[in-house]
Amino acid sequence: MCEGVPLPALAEVAGTPLHVYSRLELRTRVSALDTAFAAYPHDLHYAIKANSTLAVVREMRAGGAHADVNSGGEIEVALRAGFTPDQIVFTGVGKTHDELVRAVTLGLKAINAESPGEMERIDAIARAHGTTARVAVRVNPDVDAGSHPHISTGHRANKFGMTPTQAHAMVTSMAARDHLKVVGLHVHVGSQITDAEPLRRGASAIADLAIALAAEGIRLEHLDVGGGLGIAYQAAQTVLSADDYAAAVVPVVQATGLRLVLEPGRWVTAPAGVLLTRIVDLKTQADGRWFVIADAGMTDLLRPALYSAWHAIEAVERRDGPPIACDVEGPVCETSDTLGKGRELPPVLVGDLLAVRDTGAYGAVMASNYNRRTVAAEVMVDGSDWRVVRKRQTVDDMLQWDM
Ligand SMILES: Cc1ncc(COP(=O)(O)O)c(C=O)c1O
Repeated sequence: MCEGVPLPALAEVAGTPLHVYSRLELRTRVSALDTAFAAYPHDLHYAIKANSTLAVVREMRAGGAHADVNSGGEIEVALRAGFTPDQIVFTGVGKTHDELVRAVTLGLKAINAESPGEMERIDAIARAHGTTARVAVRVNPDVDAGSHPHISTGHRANKFGMTPTQAHAMVTSMAARDHLKVVGLHVHVGSQITDAEPLRRGASAIADLAIALAAEGIRLEHLDVGGGLGIAYQAAQTVLSADDYAAAVVPVVQATGLRLVLEPGRWVTAPAGVLLTRIVDLKTQADGRWFVIADAGMTDLLRPALYSAWHAIEAVERRDGPPIACDVEGPVCETSDTLGKGRELPPVLVGDLLAVRDTGAYGAVMASNYNRRTVAAEVMVDGSDWRVVRKRQTVDDMLQWDM
């Protein structure tokens, strides 16, 4: 079941592969995070990169969140979901001229600048348009996030942000410009973080810098500590609660008196989604274990292939009998195309449904047409109702740009 709706009924009507979201879970999680930080002035800016389906983004807005975007496309998603420019922060390591023009002329709450060169480009655009751009400076605190290297962003070898020393010099030299207003500092040390220390150290790097800048008379408006809070993809995994997270970050920023900005993605949306997939083939391996071949693969959920990520996989309808040892594989012509290796499932047959858990973040957003597979549909469940919130792509949709 997802809320009051049986998953087989969804698969029957909407087909598979199918991303299924629980509206209740989305709302519950965004409000739980907000409550955890209630004692300190803060704004949650939902990281749209985690799941940018309009219906999901609208739920985040309805739950009181603002938006964090990573590209021109995500700026438009945020606007269409109803956010106003002063509710949007814009991060991104390679913002193009057109993206910066759009951000500056909209007057976003903050453009999180990644380099001195980007600050100069923002300044020039703001001057040319006779406006003042609100910028925050992304600091790379040289912290090991302790998560997968592909989703760690705060180490000095990573391409993101500037050292605290560079950031300090830049803010000092640019604070007096007519067309730039430095409103904040930004840090994001990585994603799927399960230990408080890297999050605390990231926050502390920008809090220390804010205090040094205040001593020079440069007063900011906010400290943006990014996202990164991890979830338990495996039941036995130890993770931080929302309260643990607040307890790690709030005392660090408190001394600055500045408003806190958070950019959560995964923690709010991942557990609110499952990927529903049907078994299309079964065969035994040389060692006696099974290959369970599903109709969903890396084009629907890239994380296992991209980061060896682990997602729980369950049979939707349980059959009696001894469990089988298996690898649950996708249909794509790549050995890395897997949903989960080394699993145990109840006995299954071709045509049975599997639910891959915690796919509400970094799932549908990473879809591709590789192998000319069409992109899966997405549905939102609300109590005993549900609706398609993103149509399944057709072959005609997919081929419409080919000349
Ligand atoms: C700048 C920035 N903010 C926020 C996020 C959201 O992170 P998470 O989904 O781990 O909360 C990301 C994702 O990595 C990011 O790059």
